[in-house]
Amino acid sequence: EETGKSGYEHFMLKEIHEQPRALRQCLRGRVDELGGRIEFEELSRLSPERLHLVAAGTSYHAALYGASLFRVAGIPADAYHAHEYALSPPPGEALVVGVSQSGETADTLAATRAARGAGAETLAVTNTVGSTLARECDHVCYIRSGPEIGVAATKTFAGQQTTLALLAEWLAADTTDRETIAALRSLPSDVQAVLDNSRSEAVAESYLGSEAYFFIGRGLAYPVSLEGALKLKEISYEHAEGFPAGGLKHGPLALVTEQTPVLATVLGDGEAARKTVNNIKEVQARGAPVVVVTDGRSEADRYADHVLRIPDSEERTAAVLANVQLQLFAYHTAAALGRPIDKPRNLAKSVTVE
Ligand code: G6P
Repeated sequence: EETGKSGYEHFMLKEIHEQPRALRQCLRGRVDELGGRIEFEELSRLSPERLHLVAAGTSYHAALYGASLFRVAGIPADAYHAHEYALSPPPGEALVVGVSQSGETADTLAATRAARGAGAETLAVTNTVGSTLARECDHVCYIRSGPEIGVAATKTFAGQQTTLALLAEWLAADTTDRETIAALRSLPSDVQAVLDNSRSEAVAESYLGSEAYFFIGRGLAYPVSLEGALKLKEISYEHAEGFPAGGLKHGPLALVTEQTPVLATVLGDGEAARKTVNNIKEVQARGAPVVVVTDGRSEADRYADHVLRIPDSEERTAAVLANVQLQLFAYHTAAALGRPIDKPRNLAKSVTVE
């Protein structure tokens, strides 16, 4: 097992560092720069009127991110917790997309089976060739992340985000604009830049012993915030919650104190970013330390106690980069606490019971 870690202390850290390569594999042959086109050789032409994305855990956060992008692309789309969807699939015709790293998660299989039973067409977005999900769905699209050993999903989340971003472009338009193509193509090197320059270890160490950690974001930063909190709680056993930044004042703000660092992800300089900056001011007024993960386009850094910087990119690719900073923050917190990072208590890599 030690040799498999290639000198890294944990599989999780190795897999975080494998992301540039994994994303290069994910993009290979799918982004035609000259033609300005996205291509999926394994998929026949699909033209769904509506999408239901079903998934569990980290994959559910990728599904939320994907659903936002499909909606931006003009296709009505919603993400569902697979375990809820299976109980009462919403009515209406939809292409049902099962998002699952392993392709073996019982909840996700139950959801796609329920959908098939009701006559829906299904698409698997998975890392695992020949998995049950891949075999049972009508269509399959691989994220090509390579094997992931750490229980906490890292590179496969980035692979799911990237594949779903590509799918949204592919379904929406015959041609993709140059900036989007450029942002997608530079994603692997931008992730590498985050890995090379991240100050997450020092930042994580300065907040050890906190009462709880809150993660906030809006728009595409919202699923990233949920994922940041999930990663931290899974591997560090610290209390961590992700909220939509706009939801803070509807309850969670009551929990915010000097003892609860708030990690705010702020992407771009649009409305979502401006409003999140206001939320940052609200938590700061309650004495909470603020860590901002940002590309530096908005004013967010001005109000931050610490900044985790990401390269300037389009918002959808910036959401992949921001998540890498949060992965590292979670990893370094858990490492400083001496947790068994690759095998957290009570959790399994693939949950094959409902
Ligand atoms: C388990 C794992 C999570 C994972 C989830 C869904 O809960 O511990 O890391 O996100 O299953 O797994 P899947 O293979 O369907 O993506």
